Amino acid sequence: MKREIEVFELFTIKESIEWSLKTEALVIGLYQDQKKLSGVAEEIDALLDGYVTEYLRDGEVRAEFKTVSKVHTLGKIGAKRIYFVGLGKKQQLTAERISQVFGKLTKVLYNDEIEEMSLLFDSFQENHLNRTKHLSKAIAESILLASYRFADYKEKDNRLIKKLEQVTIYSKQNKEDLKQGLKKGAAYGEGTNFARTLVNIPANLLTPTDLADYAQEIAEKYEMEIEILEKEEMEKLGMGALLAVNQGTDQPPKMIVLKYQGRKEWNQVVSFVGKGVTYDSGGLSIKTREGMIDMKSDMGGAAAVLGAMDVIGKLKPEINLLAVIPTAENLINGSALKPGDVITSLSGKTIEVLNTDAEGRLILADGITYAKQLGANYLVDVATLTGAAVIALGESTTGALTNNKEWYEKVEKSAEVAGEYMWLLPSFDFYKKMVKSSSIADLNNSPGRPAGAITAGLFLGEFAGVTPWVHLDIAGPSYTKRSSDLNPKGGTGVMVRTLAELALTFS
Ligand code: BES
Ligand code: ZN
Ligand code: ZN
Repeated sequence: MKREIEVFELFTIKESIEWSLKTEALVIGLYQDQKKLSGVAEEIDALLDGYVTEYLRDGEVRAEFKTVSKVHTLGKIGAKRIYFVGLGKKQQLTAERISQVFGKLTKVLYNDEIEEMSLLFDSFQENHLNRTKHLSKAIAESILLASYRFADYKEKDNRLIKKLEQVTIYSKQNKEDLKQGLKKGAAYGEGTNFARTLVNIPANLLTPTDLADYAQEIAEKYEMEIEILEKEEMEKLGMGALLAVNQGTDQPPKMIVLKYQGRKEWNQVVSFVGKGVTYDSGGLSIKTREGMIDMKSDMGGAAAVLGAMDVIGKLKPEINLLAVIPTAENLINGSALKPGDVITSLSGKTIEVLNTDAEGRLILADGITYAKQLGANYLVDVATLTGAAVIALGESTTGALTNNKEWYEKVEKSAEVAGEYMWLLPSFDFYKKMVKSSSIADLNNSPGRPAGAITAGLFLGEFAGVTPWVHLDIAGPSYTKRSSDLNPKGGTGVMVRTLAELALTFS
C-alpha cells in the first residue's frame, strides 16, 4: 500500500500561440477596470466576430474578481473553449487574490474534466510592474494546491479520475523569471500536497515505521543524510520521554534525523522539529469517542517538516538544516504510561506525567534536546499540540511562542510571505511557573486548562533553553473538515510553505 510521491511535470513554457492551436481550454485573464478588450482578448474577439465584447456587455463574460466564464468557440479557432477569468480591479491584485482566482479556475476545470489547458499568461500580467516571478509562482502553487485529491481506498480505480495533467504557459515575458517562478510555486505546491497525503493516510497504514520510510525516500531522492534511531539506541541515549509515550503500543518508535547541508561549512544550523504522533488515543487519560476520530492527523507537524524538506530538496537554498522527527503511537496496552508516573527526559530533566494525553510535549522534549545535541543553533518546532490553541485562535491561525524576538520575526515574516496565518502568544513568567510546579519532578506535563496552548509551548521552551526557538502549534489549521477551492477536506499541509520560505531567506 506504499504510495509513490507524485512528481508533476505539469508546466511547459512557450512564447507565442497560433490561434489554430488545438487545446481543450484556453485561459485568459480579464481586468475589471479595462474599458474595452485589449491584447490577446481583443484578437480573440475579432476572431470570434465580436462576440466577446457582446458577451461582456450582456454579463455572460465577466471580469469581476473570482468569476470564471466559459465560452465555446464553435470551431472558429483551434481552442475548443475559452475560460475567461475575472481578476477584479488591477490595483487590488495581490498574490493571495491570484491564488484564489486560480483555485476557483482549477475547480471549474476539474468539474469539466479538463486534462490540458493553455494559459495566456500575459493577460494576467500588470504591464507597469515586473512581477512575472511572483505571478508565475502564485499561479503554479495554486493550481497544484487546488488539484490535490487524496487517492482513497474505494473499490473504483482512482486513476480513472480525469484531472489536469498539462498546462502550457504562453508568454513573452522573461523566460528565466517565468521558469523560476513556476519552479518555486510547483515545489511549494507539491511539498504541501505531500504533507497533506501523509496526514490523510490512516494511522494503521502510517505507523512510525512508515513515517521513517517516507523520510528515507526523501533522503534518497535528494541525497540528504539520514539517521533513524531505533528503540535500543534511544534507551542507550536516555530518551525517556519519547520512550514513555511509546510504552503503550507494540509499534516501535523512531527518532528520524534528516540532514541537509546547503552551505560550505556546517555551521549556523537550523533545526525543524516535528511532532510525529501517528495516532493519539490519549493513552490512559483517554480521549472521548469524538475526540479520537481524527487523531491520525497528530503527525501534522512531522508532515510539515517532511513537506518542507521536499521543497528544500528541490530548490536547494543555502541553509544548513536538521529535520528532527520524534515519532510514536500513543496507545494503551498493559505497559502504558500512567498518570502520576515520573519520567526522565534526554535532557536529564524529570517530568511528572499528570496527563498521558499531553504526549506531544513529551516526545518533542526529547526531539528538541536531540536537535541541540546534534548542533542546532536555531530551532522551530511544529506540532498539533493543544486543543486549547484551536479554542484560542480557531482553525486558520497557527499559535506561536518564542524565547527570541528576532528569530520569531524572521519566522513570522516568512509566514506572511507564504500567505499563512500566525499569531504570537505571551510568555510571562507566571506561565513558566505553572509548568515547573511539581512536588516530585522538575516539570509537570499538564498544568491544567487555563492558558493551555501557552503552557504547552513553554514546557518545550524549557528544553530549548537559550537556543533561539519558535514553537508553532498547528492543532487548528493542520486538518480541516470543510473543503475549499485550494484545500479539500483533511490534511492542509500548513506550515510547509512557511518553513520552506524561511529556509529560502538564508540564500
Ligand atoms: N493531539 C492533541 C491536541 C489536538 C487536539 C490536536 C485537537 C488536534 C485537534 C494533544 O496531544 C492533546 O491531546 N492535548 C491535550 C493537552 C491537555 C491534556 C493538557 C489537549 O489539548 O486537550
Ligand atoms: Zn494527546
Ligand atoms: Zn497529540
